[in-house]
Amino acid sequence: MSRQYGIIGWPVEHSMSPAMHNAAFEKLQLDACYDRFAVDSESLREQVSVFKGKLSGWNVTVPHKQAVIDCLDYIDPVADAAQSVNTVVNRGGVLYGYSTDGYGLQRALEVEFDIDVAGKHVLFVGAGGAVQASAVQFASAGARSVTLINRTVSKAEAVADRVRKVSPDVKVEVYPLSDYPNDMSDVDIVIQGTSVELKEGRELAFSFDGFRKDCVCMDMIYNVVTPFLQKAEQHGMRIAGGEDMLLYQGMKAFEYWTGVVAPETVMRSALK
Ligand code: ATR
Repeated sequence: MSRQYGIIGWPVEHSMSPAMHNAAFEKLQLDACYDRFAVDSESLREQVSVFKGKLSGWNVTVPHKQAVIDCLDYIDPVADAAQSVNTVVNRGGVLYGYSTDGYGLQRALEVEFDIDVAGKHVLFVGAGGAVQASAVQFASAGARSVTLINRTVSKAEAVADRVRKVSPDVKVEVYPLSDYPNDMSDVDIVIQGTSVELKEGRELAFSFDGFRKDCVCMDMIYNVVTPFLQKAEQHGMRIAGGEDMLLYQGMKAFEYWTGVVAPETVMRSALK
């Protein structure tokens, strides 16, 4: 019988994951398919029990990455530390939760910029689920320092607390978007994780004046050079969009589900 996979979220229409995973199933001649499932917060628990009898695994996106944890049987330590699950594996009716976002971003930095996060000062703008997963992952991977800048400081503080809990030795600082230090010369890597520039015509109020020019900048938004990236590039920094993060988080999820090496080339072209 054909295996079924998918992505649950609200909204999910925009997701590129079906194209990427279906291309991989086809390439490896696996009898499987991947669909989108629009699930709102009220029906999350009920839908997860339906999927338990139907899907072999699924991805989880906004706004369920944290809420889904209570619906699962086992949480991988990385996902538990980040309190964020983006990949569920259904092993005979037992549901396992994993987080591949931080891995995806870390791998994307290696591939795009040849940069290892170990020893680096990483600045995140934003404090959503993907930022939390990545900040925790980077701290565990040996980042020297993590700075979080967000509109709502309390949300950034919550992310900072998770980072400190997992990696007490990492220096963690939090600032409001409206008032962060002018001197950012210690920062090595900038990650844009807010949803502001998802909508064309909107621009995040952010200046790169105090940053070094040999800093690198990656946006979690994909398939577009955001105003944020344009400003970073004008400042002289190397830039990259979120395509590789999407690819590598997806490849890792695929490997959790199938146990075989994900076909990078076809998955990458499916995203284009
Ligand atoms: P995800 O889970 O995908 O990472 P999310 O939880 O929807 O995303 O987070 C969206 C991010 O964009 C948050 O950091 C949010 O800031 P707040 O924590 O203050 O809400 C940020 N964001 C959204 N709209 C914004 C706006 N108009 N100005 C500044 N930041 C904004």
